[in-house]
Amino acid sequence: MDKFIINGGKKLSGEVKISGAKNAILPVMTATLLTSGKSIFYNVPNLNDIKMMAHVLRVLGAQVEYADETLTIDTTHADYYEAPYELVSKMRASIYVLGPLLAKKGKARVSFPGGCAIGTRPVDLHINAMEALGAEINVEHGYINAACSQLKGAKIRFEKVSVGATANTLMAAVLAEKTTNLYNVAKEPEIGNLIDCLNQMGANIKGKNTSHLVVTGVSKLHPIEVEMMPDRIEAGTFLIAGALTGSNITITNCIPEHIQALLDRLIQAGCTLNLTEKTINIEPPARILPVDIVTYPYPDFPTDLQAQFMTLMTLANGESRIEDTIFPDRLMHVSELKRLDADISLEKHIAIVQGVRSLSGAKVMATDLRASAALVLAGLAAEGITTISRIYHIDRGYDRIEAKLQKLGADIKRVKG
Ligand code: EPZ
Repeated sequence: MDKFIINGGKKLSGEVKISGAKNAILPVMTATLLTSGKSIFYNVPNLNDIKMMAHVLRVLGAQVEYADETLTIDTTHADYYEAPYELVSKMRASIYVLGPLLAKKGKARVSFPGGCAIGTRPVDLHINAMEALGAEINVEHGYINAACSQLKGAKIRFEKVSVGATANTLMAAVLAEKTTNLYNVAKEPEIGNLIDCLNQMGANIKGKNTSHLVVTGVSKLHPIEVEMMPDRIEAGTFLIAGALTGSNITITNCIPEHIQALLDRLIQAGCTLNLTEKTINIEPPARILPVDIVTYPYPDFPTDLQAQFMTLMTLANGESRIEDTIFPDRLMHVSELKRLDADISLEKHIAIVQGVRSLSGAKVMATDLRASAALVLAGLAAEGITTISRIYHIDRGYDRIEAKLQKLGADIKRVKG
């Protein structure tokens, strides 16, 4: 297994181009199952999660090609409807095939996704929504078995805001009879991107960026050719890299409003930000100020930047409190950050971070995608050498992060395990 070796304490400078958004591309990949033919997607990064989803689609009979950040998916012969345990257990997002398979094939057999390092990951909201649309569902031997000859429009109110359940239900409802009203939906930009793609395929979805979506069922959808939106979490991760190392850097090919909640906190922490429509320049203060954060659904502070922001707070001039209401157990990075001399204590699910003058390099282990990013950030700031093992976690969501950081002047190298 590969490792990163980081010699910390280096100032960064220059520009970094943000890649396409993993969490936008994954549902759009499964949405192609609603069509029959070849769709083409541009600005697609080379990520393990995307390769894994490509494999799931191939198992369902689709042809998937990837080269030069272009992804081609031909669903002409996507005649199968089972997503096996071996794949779903490796990537929860495989559950996104449930809605489109039910809508297009009238049946689906999807392995029950397990939990992961950030907590139990239920799918009850997905299953309840499919049943509301008329699907017969039984769960046995670890599989979700779903069937319905024709889904019918319904009124569905999600008891919790869920990105995945919103995406899956949208992909089921677009071919359902009559009209589906969805309430308390997720408003993340990735959902907006999915709505745009589904409407480009011929769907009729209204209410984008609101909590209430109205889906009028259509009889057929067609393949599309479209460019993917930039990854707001990668953008936030690199901004925090600048803040943490006291470096003036610029990120390009991003959409500032997608991370407004982070930008507000970085300003509270003393950073100066200079924005254009697609770039953000950050000028950090001599010493970062402490800022409390609580994560909530979009447009509030995203759970996927919680670990990275906590790393920033380990060097702040005072105490900060960090709580993740989306995934309360998403704290695997705490023990690893403490190995780098961070001063963090836990009160139930709240992390109390006492800023220190400096972190010191050590051997640490990545546990999940965003915790890995937090450890890379900590290594950039720590004095001395930080070695991070199990970095396959980071390759799931960041395309060659070490190359981008090297371009900014970081002393980081990947050592083949
Ligand atoms: C998506 O996961 C993202 N993954 C996650 O990013 C992200 O952290 C999360 O949304 C929240 O923004 C992808 O887009 C592939 P949820 P998802 O359903 O859809 C509960 C990353 O690092 N819930 O919005 O699984 C759930 O437990 C990943 O890129 C139910 O109770 O998250 C959580 O508390 C990690 N029942 C809350 O809802 C359900 O049926 C929000 O989860 C579904 C979810």
